[in-house]
Amino acid sequence: MLPDPQVVTISRFLVDQERRFPEATGAFTNILHDIALAAKVISREVRKAGLVDILGHAGLENVHGEEVQKLDVFANDVLYRALDHTGYVACLASEESEDIIPIPERFPAGEYVVLYDPLDGSSNIDVNVSIGTIFSIHRKISAGERGVLEDCLQPGFRQLAAGYALYGSSTMLVYTTGAGVHGFTLDPSLGEFLLSHPGMRIPDPPAKTYSVNEAYYNRWSAGQQRLVSWLKGEGGFGSRYIGSLVADVHRTLLQGGLFMYPADRVHPEGKLRLLYEMAPMAMIVTQAGGRASDGRGDLLDIQPRSLHQRTPVYLGSPGFVELAERYLAGDPEV
Ligand code: AHG
Ligand code: MN
Ligand code: MN
Repeated sequence: MLPDPQVVTISRFLVDQERRFPEATGAFTNILHDIALAAKVISREVRKAGLVDILGHAGLENVHGEEVQKLDVFANDVLYRALDHTGYVACLASEESEDIIPIPERFPAGEYVVLYDPLDGSSNIDVNVSIGTIFSIHRKISAGERGVLEDCLQPGFRQLAAGYALYGSSTMLVYTTGAGVHGFTLDPSLGEFLLSHPGMRIPDPPAKTYSVNEAYYNRWSAGQQRLVSWLKGEGGFGSRYIGSLVADVHRTLLQGGLFMYPADRVHPEGKLRLLYEMAPMAMIVTQAGGRASDGRGDLLDIQPRSLHQRTPVYLGSPGFVELAERYLAGDPEV
């Protein structure tokens, strides 16, 4: 039976969107299409992770000295193989690779750079909590034919696209190309991502929910401690923290609220990585009417210095992000 005619697949949606830009070459559309395919392949493995011996540690460590789970390695390989041969990409960068990932000489290079966290929240794999994939797309700016580090170290406001896959109760793909945020839900019976959340906007009034790992309370600055004490006290906020960035951001996008990963005495730059975690999330949240800050100013304005640099993050409903900035600045009025 053919799907209902009003059902829009991601392929159809990408083509419709491309038609709005006469100068579009289709390369960009193809990259998004390739990422969507990679997300389906990763989703299939995530869904059966409990059934095959893919759980547990691969016995490797990544560039951050963190235990690498087998699914991280698998997801990293799937994204690389989906993008390395297409001729659209100048170079890649991954959370799992110390340096930029060049396109093999045997393949042509293209005009775009893709940075990704192949599997986010991997500490949650073994306990069946939602995990995700995050990606960011820039245009190459260096003069050479193949991408170099400079092409990866671009500020978030220059991103052409950003998105994530969420392997949760259903598998979703959410992305923006700067023309709003659109969500697609995977129909496993069709193997297709179907448009389920066109034009996502952070709700206003937002849910009064704050999201932070309070285990680090004693490491926080006085301003951070005062902020959270107010939120849970006078502010009357509820708390939700999944510990999986994609899931925490997705909830904030759908309901509103304030997601935080603050700097602290142990993590002076915070824990979350700028280029392939926070810059893409900041573009998405901003496109949906929200804000993303490093606690002092717009996260999208940060000029990256290194591939794996970290940043504190406050993102979600604009009013809540601004309140956080005021507490952190020691504003006597709050
Ligand atoms: P990754 O699995 O890619 O290393 O990312 C994990 C991140 C992110 O998913 C989440 O927001 C954060 O780690 C949770 O950190 P804490 O356990 O310190 O709260
Ligand atoms: Mn991550
Ligand atoms: Mn990861």
